[in-house]
Amino acid sequence: MIWIKDNQGGCTYKCQMNTPIVRQPPGCQHPDWKDHWESIYAEKNPAEVSWYQSHPQHSLSLIGDTGIGTTASIIDVGGGASTLVDHLLMEGYRDITVLDIARSAIEQAENRLGDRSQQVTWVESDVTSYAPGQTFDIWHDRAVFHFLTLEHDRECYLKTLNKALKPGGHVIIATFSDSGPNQCSGLDVVRYSPEALSQALGPTLRLAEILTENHHPPSGGLQQFVYCRFSRNA
Ligand SMILES: C[S@@+](CC[C@H](N)C(=O)[O-])C[C@H]1O[C@@H](n2cnc3c(N)ncnc32)[C@H](O)[C@@H]1O
Repeated sequence: MIWIKDNQGGCTYKCQMNTPIVRQPPGCQHPDWKDHWESIYAEKNPAEVSWYQSHPQHSLSLIGDTGIGTTASIIDVGGGASTLVDHLLMEGYRDITVLDIARSAIEQAENRLGDRSQQVTWVESDVTSYAPGQTFDIWHDRAVFHFLTLEHDRECYLKTLNKALKPGGHVIIATFSDSGPNQCSGLDVVRYSPEALSQALGPTLRLAEILTENHHPPSGGLQQFVYCRFSRNA
């Protein structure tokens, strides 16, 4: 694996055998966000963070429910060091992209996977300024969209999503539910009901399935999540 720093706009390239070169657009729009997440991953082990799951049951079940099967191209937005990618590889998915703003999170996942990490495309980018180089059948986001507390940032996220999603594609987003916490990782979040999330994403995405989860963070307590699967017309 080779990392190359481009000094012309603070961009980062990553080259890895058998995986595409991915470039972050010039000028990260939110350098403070990046600093925040890099320091979280530098300070904690992957299984210590409050959102950790050893088996992301709801995500896997909703991905399966799209009915596309293992040929699906999937992007896990803000995937961090999540174990979802491990399970997708085990189930036979072969077109997987994991995007995260924090390079340290991606490195944790790559180290855990070892050689299998070469079967994955890793992208270090802020989702709100990401220029997708391909389109996807499935957009998966657990606990990222809810950090976008400003309308402008949600609009940027949706622009990226609309560019990245294939016609007939599926969007799976998990956020804190309307009875979940107000903060995560020291940051304010927006809590959503399925209806509010549907409204935030706009009329081109049809709500197809809802699951709820009582997540127990490793340090104790309870976080109530809502997972929604949406589909876009073909
Ligand atoms: C609460 S964690 C959830 C991680 C993972 N989705 C999971 O469920 O285990 C939020 C993740 O989103 C990433 N993140 C936060 N803001 C982001 C942004 N604007 N663009 C891309 N990734 C972001 C963080 O680095 C972190 O890995």
